[in-house]
Amino acid sequence: MKKHITWIQHKLGIQHKLGLQHKLQIQPKAWILILFVMAALFGGCGRDSDHTEAQAENPPEPSVVVGFSQLGAESDWRSANTDSMLQTFTRENGYTLIYENGQQQQSKQITAIRKFIQQDVDYIVLAPEKETGWESVLEEARNAEIPVIIVDRRVAAADKNLYTCWVGSDFELEGKKMCAWLGSFAEAHGIAPEELHIVNIQGTIGSTAQIGRTRGLANAARENGWDLMEEISGDFTETRGREVMSMLLDKYDNLNVVYCENDNMALGVLDAIEEAGRTAGSDIANGEIMVVSFDGVNEEARELARAGKISCIAECNPLHGPRVEALIRQLEAGEEPEKHNYVDEKIFSAEEAVREIEIDGVTYKVEKP
Ligand code: AHR
Repeated sequence: MKKHITWIQHKLGIQHKLGLQHKLQIQPKAWILILFVMAALFGGCGRDSDHTEAQAENPPEPSVVVGFSQLGAESDWRSANTDSMLQTFTRENGYTLIYENGQQQQSKQITAIRKFIQQDVDYIVLAPEKETGWESVLEEARNAEIPVIIVDRRVAAADKNLYTCWVGSDFELEGKKMCAWLGSFAEAHGIAPEELHIVNIQGTIGSTAQIGRTRGLANAARENGWDLMEEISGDFTETRGREVMSMLLDKYDNLNVVYCENDNMALGVLDAIEEAGRTAGSDIANGEIMVVSFDGVNEEARELARAGKISCIAECNPLHGPRVEALIRQLEAGEEPEKHNYVDEKIFSAEEAVREIEIDGVTYKVEKP
């Protein structure tokens, strides 16, 4: 583990390595340093000397430098996740945050990580777009002795020591919860398994959220005899959700359940259903199309769940800033955090028929949205 040097040594080192953009990011502290040196140089000139002595006794707190590579801004979940990080890693809390938006491109995220390494940050936090393709750059970080914390989705690395720890959701459990709810709902309403004609509008292919949620449905469909007609990506965006759903409505007359791998795509799906002159809702025996979804962050989606237009939402919690900070604090204290840290999440539905579900012997209460 890298040793922390004093704040002044650290900043002088970083100033040397940083480009102009990042010099600007640490400018306030650099200014404190300049003022501090000037005050020391001209210290004898009058009443300010008292002030200088006071400053020398209370030098600025050391700042932990965190480089955060966010994958993009595809959804409300992602925006809430970015905000949580920005609000946690503030100067007031003792951090200098260098934030880079990968704009949905893994290559940009890899470039950002390389920049963080050049800048000799104290910690790298990576929210990876997809699971594969990170080994080389993580090895570079490890060679530079910079701890890497993975957040939200995971990286598929054979060598688990390429990163320090991970915090995020159990995406497959989210999928299992949704399927347990759907199975119980069908049973409660006397709908035969083979009468569930399902399409899965998936998230970004290769992302952990997509892999887990898709697996949850594929397994449940196979085990229960549901008719899973198609899996197609809507890339976690509202626009793609709408486009893909329009196409699916043209293709399948009997489609009656849309398993939508996030709320933003569900909003697009609801538009497409309305445009096609159909109705979204849980009454599939009478021609409605049931939409179920994941996240529970977007207020519009929560409202639509209260109104029964989205029948069920499995929560995916984006507020990882404080969780990542807790891991950094442990590392700063020389402790070894848990390698994998899961977040507890709920499931929401306005439907009265199913008020709890059970998965692997664990009971989950179904909350009102
Ligand atoms: O990785 C978490 C997923 O990514 C969220 O469910 C989705 O909305 C986001 O874009």
